[in-house]
Amino acid sequence: MRQSRHAAIGVFDSGVGGLTVLKALMERLPMESTVYLGDLARVPYGTKSGDVVTRYALACAHALMEYELKALVVACNTASAVALPALEAALPVPVIGVIAPGAQAAAQVTRSGRVAVIGTQGTVASGAYQAALRAESPALEVRARACPLFVPLAEEGWVEGEVPRLAAERYLSEGFLDGVDTLVLGCTHYPLLAPVLAQVAGEAVTLVDSALATADRVAQVLRTRELTRLERGAVERHYLVTDTPQRFIEVGERFLGRPLASARQVDLRVT
Ligand code: DGL
Repeated sequence: MRQSRHAAIGVFDSGVGGLTVLKALMERLPMESTVYLGDLARVPYGTKSGDVVTRYALACAHALMEYELKALVVACNTASAVALPALEAALPVPVIGVIAPGAQAAAQVTRSGRVAVIGTQGTVASGAYQAALRAESPALEVRARACPLFVPLAEEGWVEGEVPRLAAERYLSEGFLDGVDTLVLGCTHYPLLAPVLAQVAGEAVTLVDSALATADRVAQVLRTRELTRLERGAVERHYLVTDTPQRFIEVGERFLGRPLASARQVDLRVT
């Protein structure tokens, strides 16, 4: 099926965190309409098994396909890590996850060849970033660590000061960053903690934000497939959530960096 330049970009995440990816997309491709789905009823994905996350991811994707889409962005790192092949097989539009773009950006940045990745338990255990980085450059030395407390800290708005700094010091300790010059923020929530992470990691370490790298990849996919919207027109922004929207709207404004007018509650058909 040939997609139209006027169709929207679908984006989904387990909840509010994927708005960091949407933010990057809106900045990179301001003329494109977007439909975002946050699966608030089933968040977090980061602690769940790959099979369960894949079922949820497919249900999110099918709900988004009710809109006319020209591409689907899997903003959730955990879902990108475990469900990308299933999504690609099931959907008639290009599917873009956050892992490969983040890994490619990190491989380009590193000089020491030692790269560290932080993410959810599910993302780290899947080995997806490790594999993607080695696919970019087999000689890379990659280490990965789960930092689950960063998710509630970011949602709570505790992104500066003593509490996140101590958490970051603990997670990045025990030689985790020895010789590392590149740290991949492999979770939707971590860009909010970037200033603290940069401070704790030190000047020698460059942070790589998978969200920004993914927005570049989406732009490239649209260009290659001649799907980029060419003329200015009304840009539509739709937000769907699978539980009551109030907290999503409140917390989401911080993740998106702009007001979030409204969100519509929908049900998913999880099979
Ligand atoms: N969105 C998830 C990710 O990027 C973090 C939150 C969750 O565990 O669902 O992996």
